[in-house]
Amino acid sequence: MKSVTVITHPLVQHNLTRLRDKRTRPQEFRRVLSEIAALMLYEATRSFAVRRASVQTPLAPARGFTLSREVVLVPVLRAGLGMLDSILQLLPGARVGFIGLKREETTLRAQFYHKSLPKDLQRFEVILIDPMLATGGSAVAAMDLLAELGARRVRLVNLVAAPEGIKHVRQHYPALPIFTAAIDRKLNGRGYIMPGLGDAGDRLFGV
Ligand code: PRP
Ligand code: URA
Repeated sequence: MKSVTVITHPLVQHNLTRLRDKRTRPQEFRRVLSEIAALMLYEATRSFAVRRASVQTPLAPARGFTLSREVVLVPVLRAGLGMLDSILQLLPGARVGFIGLKREETTLRAQFYHKSLPKDLQRFEVILIDPMLATGGSAVAAMDLLAELGARRVRLVNLVAAPEGIKHVRQHYPALPIFTAAIDRKLNGRGYIMPGLGDAGDRLFGV
């Protein structure tokens, strides 16, 4: 599927399977989600622009690279929080914006309840983080907000995607790169990804 990268690395798939397992309790779920997020970040940032830089080692000058642009990480609350810390450890200079979205249970429409982001996102690499892409309503709402703030380079990192969600995002943002560990079968009648891993927020926080 265009612009969708399924990360098939064995460690990612091993950890995804632990997250899917209904016996995995919140304490372990949090740890494994954090680990998998770090592994996925390598793939998601592979195409980041770099510029040449020279440094002095204790012995001699050395040529190297630095990232060309600053990064803004944007976890979608709540479940995106479970992927934030380990990503932030790998990108310690990144800024962090937050988007609070809650899917209404019957209509499945995503409603904003929190927004805190830099005012102008034009010069940043933005990584939108949410473990679940189900109907795609939350991702499109988050992308609309990022676009309003001028974001030009966004990539979406999620763990499990439904074909319906990918299609919906594609219709609105055809060029958005999506990185996921799995494209599952379909949504069920209540908008849950099948087989998925259940409600990611509930499994992370036990509520
Ligand atoms: C979940 C998930 C996504 C959204 C995906 O969040 O973390 O944000 O659903 O569904 P969609 O693609 O159909 O919009 P939820 O709204 O349940 O909030 P939570 O993270 O606080 O549990
Ligand atoms: N949100 C989740 O947390 N899980 C799903 O399967 C769908 C939406």
